[in-house]
Formats: sequence, C-alpha cells, structure tokens
Amino acid sequence: MEGRGAADPKPPAEEKLLSSRALVLTGYGGYEKLKLQVKTMKPPRLQPGEVMVRLRACGLNFAELLGKQGLYELLPAPPVVMGMEGSGVVEAVAEDVKDRKVGDRVIAVNRCDMWQELVVLPAKRTYPMPEGMSFEEAAAIPINYLTAYMMLFEMANLRPGKSVLIHMAAGGVGTAATQLCQTVQDVTVFGTASASKHETISQGGVTHPIDYRTKDYVAEIRKISPKGVDIVLDPLGGSDTHKGYNLLKPLGMLIAFGAANCVTGQKKNLLAVAKTWYHQLSLNTLKLMQHNKAISGFHLGYITDEELYDGTIFKLLELYKQGKIKPRIDSCYHFEEVADAMKRMHERQNIGKKSLKCDETARHDKPDFFFFYSFLFFRGDHEVPN
Ligand SMILES: NC(=O)c1ccc[n+]([C@@H]2O[C@H](COP(=O)([O-])OP(=O)(O)OC[C@H]3O[C@@H](n4cnc5c(N)ncnc54)[C@H](OP(=O)(O)O)[C@@H]3O)[C@@H](O)[C@H]2O)c1
Repeated sequence: MEGRGAADPKPPAEEKLLSSRALVLTGYGGYEKLKLQVKTMKPPRLQPGEVMVRLRACGLNFAELLGKQGLYELLPAPPVVMGMEGSGVVEAVAEDVKDRKVGDRVIAVNRCDMWQELVVLPAKRTYPMPEGMSFEEAAAIPINYLTAYMMLFEMANLRPGKSVLIHMAAGGVGTAATQLCQTVQDVTVFGTASASKHETISQGGVTHPIDYRTKDYVAEIRKISPKGVDIVLDPLGGSDTHKGYNLLKPLGMLIAFGAANCVTGQKKNLLAVAKTWYHQLSLNTLKLMQHNKAISGFHLGYITDEELYDGTIFKLLELYKQGKIKPRIDSCYHFEEVADAMKRMHERQNIGKKSLKCDETARHDKPDFFFFYSFLFFRGDHEVPN
C-alpha cells in the first residue's frame, strides 16, 4: 500500500458525552448547601465487576438530614453526593459481569453517591427488581426494610404474641417495621406518631397509635399494657432510651438505632446534640442481669457481612412478591425540590417514604430553584471550567 493515509488506523469515532445531574452537598448547613450540578462525562471505563446504572428514583432517609448537618459519621466530607439507595436501569456492564445486562431494572445500594442520574458501582451492589415493582418502591426497600428486618428478626427474634414499641411509626423505617410485624401472628404494635397520621398508621397495622407530642407515651402504654412491652425500637436516643428501657418487660429487648432527638430543624442544634448525648442511657452488665433485660445497638452502615446483607434483601423481595410488604410512598420530589422534601421530614409531615425522582423533565419544572453548574467529569478527576 502506498501513501500515508491508507496505512493509518481510522481515527477513533468521537465518543458521545454523557450528561448526569447530581445533587451535591457542598458543605454542612442548611438547604442552600445542596446544589444541583450537571456533570458532562465521557462514558466511564468500567472496572471489572462494575455496572453503570441510570437511576430513576432515590430514597431520602433521615441519615441525609443528619449528613447535611455533619452528624452522620459514615458520610465522606463535602463536596459529596449523598444518597444510599436508588433504583434504575442498567446502562452498561463490565465485560466480566455475567449476571446483569443492559436494560435490567435494578435496586442499587451504596454508602453514598446515589443522588445522581448515572452511577457506577459494583454489580453485586445491585439487585433485580421484581416484576410490577415501581422505581419509587424499589428505592424505598433497602435502608428502611433491611433496618427493620434485621432488628426485628435477627436481633429481637420477634415471635407470635409479642408486643413492640415503634417510634416514628409513620416514617420510613416505622412503616416498614409495622408491615414486618404483620407477618408474625398476634403481634401488638404500639406506635408513636403525630396525631394527624393515626388513622393511616392504624390501617397500616399499628394496634395502638400514640400521640407523643401531646401525651406521655409511657403512661399511655402502661394504661393498655401495665407490664410494658417486649421489644422497643429506639431511633430517638437521649431520655427516650431511658423511657424505652423502663418500659421493657423482663426478658425484653431495646434496640438503639438512631438519635433523631439531635435534630430540631434544617441546621445543626448543638444544644439538642449535647442534651441527647448527656441523657444517653448508661448501664453496667450487673444491672442488666438484675433487670433481666437486653440492650442492643444496630447500624446498617456497619453491616459488612455481604451474605447477611444480600440474604436479607432477597428475603424482603420475596415478601414483596408474596404481597406481605409494600413500601408506602409518602411523596416523590424532583431533584430541584430536595429542600421541600427535607422540609417535609423536618416538619414531621411525612407518612412513609420520601423519594427523589431522577428524570430529566424535572430540569424544566423549576429551573431556577438551584444554581446549575456544569463541569467536565472524568472518573476520579473533576475538571471545572472557568
Ligand atoms: N441505625 C440504622 O441503621 C438506621 C437506618 C435507617 C434509619 N435509622 C434511624 O431511624 C429513624 C427513622 O428514619 P427514617 O429515615 O425512617 O425517617 P422518618 O421516620 O421518615 O422521619 C421523619 C418522621 O420522624 C418523626 N420524627 C421524630 N423525631 C423527629 C425529629 N427530631 N425530626 C424530624 N422528624 C422526627 C416525624 O414523624 P412523627 O412526628 O409522626 O413521629 C417525621 O415525620 C432515624 O432516627 C434514623 O436515623 C437508623
């Protein structure tokens, strides 16, 4: 062959750039710290075992309220994309990934990074969605239901005839725990929630809804069950842990799994944090022996046993297929409306799960709600023009 051009390999076809919107926490503080940014990126080169998922919905959890205030220790420092769960469609798979394919509808979990449209993560952190499950439902399963399931069944060994006190019973974990209690015969559920939610949570399976905002919930429970309860799920911390412990029947168990009492609004309240910390329950083992009670702690973020994690998700998906659990979606907000979504939690209005929608159309609904900032994104290397 003659001539230079003939021997040259073809110039590479121009790679189509991908665009992905992400909600970035730019610092600790109020809602203004969350910025919606548009990333433009080359199609990422997937590492072995990875998939790329175009998310359609993400879950909003109490952990993100804490994270925004710098109170969630597992969240990397800002700037960071929050979000621990989502659902969407597989858009690319690494060569060695055989059990996921492009087009699969999956649930996806990660320590953070999920409040964006495109996410790259290990295929083993994705789970096929059952037929008929909506993206909002799928994004509502992992954190709330894993937490509720592991506490009720792995730790507290819930059995027929037992009684359970569920705080924040109308919230994400609360509604999940209530549904899971219904899978066991004759379980009595005491549920604390704001009064306006009582009818709904009663229909959802709470036997005795209690308005903790206007009534002494300990006295209310004692009126119905003078001996107390078998299991207390405590997401509040501080003085409520003492109350929960005192409410336990002999051989009962309290599981501490949160410190919602630290949160009073969108910004960090150091007094509330100090008060919750100061009133922590502190006991020695001798006292536990004398009281015949158990205290346990639970934090899903520190569950590193993949078999336990995956096995529990599959059990939950099976329960979903059998119609025994169904996430209650309180509301679905577009990325632009994340402040409204968080506000709804802070103002204690939600009944069930709050989701964030990732679809593109949202960009045009409320274009000026956040400051849009485009930048070029290459994996691990952010280049910000101008
Ligand atoms: N350890 C873990 O692995 C783990 C995992 C998931 C969640 N959690 C914990 O579980 C709890 C519930 O989480 P979630 O995501 O399901 O949230 P959520 O219950 O949906 O949170 C909002 C609801 O909680 C109630 N609430 C009580 N105290 C509140 C406060 N200080 N600020 C705002 N709302 C308050 C309000 O309802 P009412 O007024 O009607 O009660 C509000 O509507 C949180 O403490 C969270 O940190 C722990």
